[in-house]
Formats: sequence, structure tokens, C-alpha cells
Amino acid sequence: MSMMMRLIRTSLSLMLCLLIATTALAQSDNGPVIDTEGHPLEAGKDYYITPAITDVGGRATIVDNGTCPLFVGQENSDAEKGIAVFFTPFAKEDDVVRVNRDLQVQFSAATLCLQGTGWTLTERDGESGRRLIVAGGTGSYFRIGETQTKGVYNIGWCPTDVCPLCKFDCGTVGALQQNGNIFLALDGNALPVVFEKA
Ligand SMILES: *[C@@H]1O[C@H](CO)[C@@H](O)[C@H](O)[C@H]1NC(C)=O
Repeated sequence: MSMMMRLIRTSLSLMLCLLIATTALAQSDNGPVIDTEGHPLEAGKDYYITPAITDVGGRATIVDNGTCPLFVGQENSDAEKGIAVFFTPFAKEDDVVRVNRDLQVQFSAATLCLQGTGWTLTERDGESGRRLIVAGGTGSYFRIGETQTKGVYNIGWCPTDVCPLCKFDCGTVGALQQNGNIFLALDGNALPVVFEKA
């Protein structure tokens, strides 16, 4: 083989290696979110959002604070069933739910408020200074982020797939206790969660 041929071959295989490496990197960055049984979360299927730690309230549910719209919150006790949600990725081609990709979250339920059950971020609450989430409205884009522990996640809001050039005051979902209810809200401690197939 001529020197030239060898050079071309080496640089071609090098390029291929680089290509594979970057593709693998992109995929591992946005790997599938895994449920408690180790299966990737499927778009449109029902899952319970359950705290990964004890004594911080129960599963995600719809909280009725006396008026419409209803709020996204947690059951007061982990003995309660909660209400399952399903995820709709912003990337229409994604049939599994991937980490750090924008998606809509919707309760798999109907309510008397007749406003839909998509999770929608609200303005800062005057009392707590935190942004609460209502079940209803147009539906915001949230995302699921990894924690240090495999299979344990945080839910965040930072819709940069929807608007790559926007500057967001990004936040992570945590619990807010108020009036005997547990609301989910940004701008506080993050709540680590797992996803259980419903
Ligand atoms: C829930 O209702 C109570 C009592 O009406 C009110 O003080 C509180 O601000 C409400 N919380 C939210 C998040 O709307």
C-alpha cells in the first residue's frame, strides 16, 4: 500500500471513530429516563411520580385549594395512590422520554374545573415568592434531569429545546407546604423522584 493510501485510510478511520464518539456522547447526554423497573419511560404511557425519599409527602396528585385552577402537588401521605401522569416530548420523533429534553406533563385524569390537566407554570406566588404549577391551561415544557443516584431524577423547567436563544430563569421542582397542602413549585429545595409505571 502506498504511503498516501495508508494516510487516507488512517484519517478515514479516525474520522469514523470521532463520529461514533460524538454520536454516543449526544445519546448518553439525552439517554432515556428509566422507571423503577429499569425500563425506559414511554411517551404517552401513565406513570406515578413518587418521591425518592420518605417523609416528604406522597405521590404527585391534583391539589384542590378551593378554587380553579387546581394545583399540581403531592399527596399528604405515601399511603395514598396519587394520580398518574403521561409525558409528551417536544421532539415529536421521541417515543421514549429522554433526560434534559423538553416535554409536557399531563395528569391522566379529568377534573371539574374543565381546564385540562397539563402542568402549567404560574407567576411567582405573592406569599411564598415561588412559582407554583397549576393543572390546566396551555401546558408548560418541563424536563427531567438526572441526580447522583441512578433511576432518581429531578423535574425542572428550562425550555431551551422550545426556545434555544431565550434566557430563562430556570428552576427545579420541589415541595411547598401551605394550608395543609403540599404544592409543587420552583425556587426551593429540589424534590428527588422516581417514576413508577401505572
Ligand atoms: C390556598 O388557599 C388559602 C386559603 O384560601 C390561601 O390563603 C392560599 O393563598 C391558597 N394557596 C394558593 C397556592 O393559592
